[in-house]
Amino acid sequence: MTAQGGDLRGRFITLEGGEGAGKSTQVKRLAATLSAHGIEAVLTREPGGTPGAEDIRALLVTGDPDRWDAMTETLLHYAARRAHVEKTVKPALARGAWVISDRFADSTMAYQGYAGAVGREAIADLHKLVLGDFQPDLTLVLDLPVEAGLARAKARMQGGIRQTLDVAEDRYERMGLAFHETLRKAFHDIAAREPQRCRLIDAGGDPDQVAAALWQAVAAKFNLTP
Ligand code: TMP
Repeated sequence: MTAQGGDLRGRFITLEGGEGAGKSTQVKRLAATLSAHGIEAVLTREPGGTPGAEDIRALLVTGDPDRWDAMTETLLHYAARRAHVEKTVKPALARGAWVISDRFADSTMAYQGYAGAVGREAIADLHKLVLGDFQPDLTLVLDLPVEAGLARAKARMQGGIRQTLDVAEDRYERMGLAFHETLRKAFHDIAAREPQRCRLIDAGGDPDQVAAALWQAVAAKFNLTP
């Protein structure tokens, strides 16, 4: 079941990609464009999106890179995701709003499944157990060479944008180049395996160009006027 199945009337769109791909800027722009088309858009993020899941986020994105092994991380992400879907995403979709999430399950598949070596099958099995057939209607994967993404993420950290309670949310950024290279290949693979749901978007341009490419993909998928 995608969000279009059952009695969920809204649409569920997720943005995915590696570090520094510009997702946080683009989710806001997409929500604004949807609003301009008269569609109520709810902006949310993972890990997080509901108070309990935001508490779990703090455990995941701060501290030493080896604070958790990949399977423990996977379980924490899915605990947060279950709360997010049940308390935030499904209620919004049920009342007809569109939900845009800055990351969702493909991040667990890429970060923990591929780069963390938990494996595709284990993540897919866990997804089924926790969320059944629930999947986004559309997933936009922002693609950027690793060095460019990490440089952008670093510049953002130095600007202090992602400081929460003075604690840097940089645990994943510090995981090393090989991890991030594997991650980029993982997102390519995920997008190639599910062409119905996923669109790979070049995130190398300026924010206006990227926003235009994202909107084109959304408008085409849902038959909206561009
Ligand atoms: P952010 O960079 O989009 O704020 O996300 C926080 C970090 O969490 C990011 O480095 C990716 C990581 N992450 C995972 O490793 N697995 C997941 O399932 C999710 C949602 C995020």
